[in-house]
Parts: sequence; structure tokens; C-alpha cells
Amino acid sequence: RIAYVNGRYVPIAQAQVHIEDRGYQFADGVYEVVPLYRGRLIDEEPHLDRFDYSLGELEIARPMSRAALKLVLRELVRRNGLSDALLYFQATRGVAPRDHKFPARVKTAFVATIRRSRPPSAAAIEQGVSVITLPDIRWERCDIKSIGLLPNLLAKQKATMAGAFEAWLVEADGTISEGSSTNAWIVTADGKLVTRDAGAAILNGITRQRVIKLLENQGIAFEQRAFSREEALAAREAFLSSSSSFVLPITKIDGHAVGEGKPGPVTRRLRDVYVAAAL
Ligand code: PDD
Repeated sequence: RIAYVNGRYVPIAQAQVHIEDRGYQFADGVYEVVPLYRGRLIDEEPHLDRFDYSLGELEIARPMSRAALKLVLRELVRRNGLSDALLYFQATRGVAPRDHKFPARVKTAFVATIRRSRPPSAAAIEQGVSVITLPDIRWERCDIKSIGLLPNLLAKQKATMAGAFEAWLVEADGTISEGSSTNAWIVTADGKLVTRDAGAAILNGITRQRVIKLLENQGIAFEQRAFSREEALAAREAFLSSSSSFVLPITKIDGHAVGEGKPGPVTRRLRDVYVAAAL
């Protein structure tokens, strides 16, 4: 496997960054994950837009122009010879002696890797996965795709220990924000498709945005708003969305069956429509 590290393509075993990289010391950086599906990058531009947004919010200088970044991603795909994969790239504020203040003259550090994707199993797609709910203990800027992911890791680990695929995070007011690395959707008891509105409480998923676009002409009643754990437990359907899982049905929440305990019609249709659009 070949990685890209600050201007060079190197075998991943030899890829190294400085121990005083602020990403390493402070999680002072941002990242993106872009799916490569059958040789094509999915929604590359929106991912690059969000990368720019995250950098801007943290006042980290862009590592390179968009055109250069696109070339690096293509070259990484080419050198690794993959067609179904996930590209990961991150930018950190750079290398400087450890000090909380932003360093004055520093060059943004940038690394990118690619790896074969492990798409959800046929069983997960056909039977759905389970989620548990946990308190959302993250910060108030979840709209920034920061590499500071400890609360997300703790939640995913608890879900894994509980035999669940994902954790849905519940805010102090009882509403669900999103999953630890996925956006959360339900079809309510009265048949409305609902996902959290984009704001500082969630990462505005590129898959989420794509699904919303694909809803046009589907005749599905749709609302972007907060929904509670109770509403989710009473829902007919539930699913999650992300670059690695696309649209994945959820058939159990905290041990309770969602609807009839199998993936529902809205979820199935949206997964099909999403995959067809990605081809
Ligand atoms: N996770 N919410 C959070 C907290 C996420 O970390 C992610 C993505 C999403 C879904 O966003 P998108 O549709 O753009 O992938 C929602 C990536 C895949 C990750 O951390 O690996």
C-alpha cells in the first residue's frame, strides 16, 4: 500500500510524521473519508467543500489547491490499484513545539491513505443492524469534521461490546443527534421520513445530503428536525447513512424491534436509489 505524506508517495510501512505534529499532540486537525465505488469517487466535490469548511472553521491553512488535492487522490487510487475503497485524508495545523496557542509560522501537514472497503455484509443489508443509544458527550461543534474523535470511539466501542453495529447519541434534551460515525434516520409511526437538521449538533453527512437530493420525485414525506429516542422506538423504520455503509437498515434499537423487525420499504428504496445513483 502506498500513502501520500506531505508531498511524497511512500510505502505505508515507511510513512512517517513528526512527533510534534499538532494532530498527534492536540488532535488539531480535520479529515475526510471519500468512497471509491467501482473505480469512481463518490461525491468528491461535496467532500472537498466540507474539507474546506472544516479547515476554515479552525483557521487551518489549506494544504494545497483543490486541483492539486484532486490529483493526489487520483494518483493514490492509481498507485494502489483499487476500485472499491475508502480514501482517507487529513490536514493538521502542522509541526511546532507543543503550545496550545496557534503557532505563528507553520505549514499545514497533509497525509492521505486508501484502503479496500469492507462494505456491510449481505446479512446486514437484508436483515438490518442493531443500535444502542448512549449519551452524546461530544462538543458543540460537531459540524466540523475534526480528528478529535474520542467520544465517538468510546460510543462505538460500547456498541461493539453490546453486540450492536452503531451507537445513536442522545443529547441532554432527549433528542438523538446522530450515530458515532453515521447519520440517523427514522420513518415515524405516522409515515414521515425524519433526520436531524444540519447544524452544530451533527456532521452534515455527504451521504445524508445525497439521500436528501434523491428524495425529490420519490413522493416521500420528509422533515429535517430533531427526534427523540421515544419517537425512534415507536418508528416504523430506521436506518443510518455514511460513506462506508451508504444506506443501512436498522432493525433493533436498544433491543426493541423497529417496526416489524425487518428493513422497511422506504429504507430499501432509498438504499437502491443511492446505490443506483453511485454507479
Ligand atoms: N464518518 N456523522 C459522523 C459523526 C461521522 O463521522 C460521519 C462519517 C457521518 C457520515 O458522513 P458521510 O456521509 O459524509 O460519510 C456522520 C466517516 C465515514 C468516518 O469517520 O470514518
